[in-house]
Amino acid sequence: MKIAVIGTGYVGLVTGTCFADSGNHVICVDNNPDKLDLLRQGEVPIYEPGLETLFKRAIREKRITFTDDLSEAVKQSDILFLCLPTPPGADGQADLSAVVKVAEQIGDLIDDYKVIVNKSTVPVGTADKVRLTIESRTSVPFDVVSNPEFLREGAAVNDFQKPERVVIGTSSDRAAELMKELYDPFVRSGNPIIIMDERSSEMTKYAANGFLATKITFMNEIANICERVGANVDHVRRGIGTDSRIGKRFLFAGIGFGGSCFPKDVQALHYTAKENDYNFRILDAVQKVNDSQKLSIVEKIKKFYNGQVKGRTFGVWGLTFKPETDDVREAPAIYIIQALIGLGAHVKAYDPEARKTFPAAVGEEISSQIDYVEDQTSALQDVDALIISTEWNEFRRPDFDNFIKLMKEPVIFDGRNLYDLERMEELNITYFSVGRRGVN
Ligand code: UGA
Repeated sequence: MKIAVIGTGYVGLVTGTCFADSGNHVICVDNNPDKLDLLRQGEVPIYEPGLETLFKRAIREKRITFTDDLSEAVKQSDILFLCLPTPPGADGQADLSAVVKVAEQIGDLIDDYKVIVNKSTVPVGTADKVRLTIESRTSVPFDVVSNPEFLREGAAVNDFQKPERVVIGTSSDRAAELMKELYDPFVRSGNPIIIMDERSSEMTKYAANGFLATKITFMNEIANICERVGANVDHVRRGIGTDSRIGKRFLFAGIGFGGSCFPKDVQALHYTAKENDYNFRILDAVQKVNDSQKLSIVEKIKKFYNGQVKGRTFGVWGLTFKPETDDVREAPAIYIIQALIGLGAHVKAYDPEARKTFPAAVGEEISSQIDYVEDQTSALQDVDALIISTEWNEFRRPDFDNFIKLMKEPVIFDGRNLYDLERMEELNITYFSVGRRGVN
């Protein structure tokens, strides 16, 4: 099939590359000429495991091309994917101006039946809005489909190629058939393509992210109580996760969720509810608990040092919101480091991928006070304590003997529960984690 992907951000690139890989011809549209040059040379501007190999192959085999000319893309394609930015506006609702603008242009350009697919996370009612915008400018037949993506950063290629489900929101049989044909290669294992109306499909995306954010937050609160009553959240997680109604996944307590999706989508769903005269109280609580969970590690530090944090030096391992990405949006490390520097502490920070992305996120003023180091051991040199804020694999099995020698005192504040309590006890490391007793 001939596909246009409009917007070559994270979702657009993964979508375009994976559809090209499954044998389609994909034309990617972007209005940033520098980015287009980079893409044409086979350079992927984001860090996403597995993407570059597929992307380079698609370019070599000429199944993916790039343009800044929307009319060319509209003319050449049967299906147009809108993968445009929808940043949160001042009121917490997604800003749809980019989507509406492209819809207007499509309305002026189409001369034959097309399916226009909304892939960005957009408020309920956006498909109708796009349809009305195009309809007001043309009498050529077309359909608008909502097809939310459920990709996780760091696992996006795999998630795209082996989706647990594909959700298609459309009231048109013709569009539904085309979409099923397009996704067929990815659901051969029998996973479902679920067809529903546009509004339910848009709501499905928010409900999924809102539910997952709530699940994590619930476990974080259980962890906070575990610490107070002497229980271990790891055992509790296994104890409840074996109940298939609860499920084993997404039950890991930590220092709060971050990223570009959960925080934004929880806020947007809360806002949609409010706009429709409904107070979504659980989501309100999720936001508040998550904000304080990000700082829970700082509370532990203050308590341990009896409030004497000024002048101490902390090593920080991990700056991204999760491993296998360079994305630092809403990462707990931002809030932890801001708080520590605000208390007069020094910070040595190490992350395998975030050296370029972190400074802008934390703010130049704070960033200029951080000592960014090039490897994990340098972040231990002469520090009072180590803080672990992202569970990169390389942090899971450190050389603890060397570790102890480098630090002033062997003290770890682990926001991701990477180590066994017994092992920490044997090694005489003072160890605080989440939802488990402190050691030594
Ligand atoms: C999330 C969803 O998982 C995807 O399905 C969705 O498509 C995507 O948002 C989106 O809307 O675009 P992502 O933000 O990439 O994906 O990352 P996740 O792997 O879901 O992790 C989100 C946050 O939750 C991270 O900060 C992670 O550390 C935290 N988390 C996750 C926990 O604290 N505990 C867990 O058990 C799982």
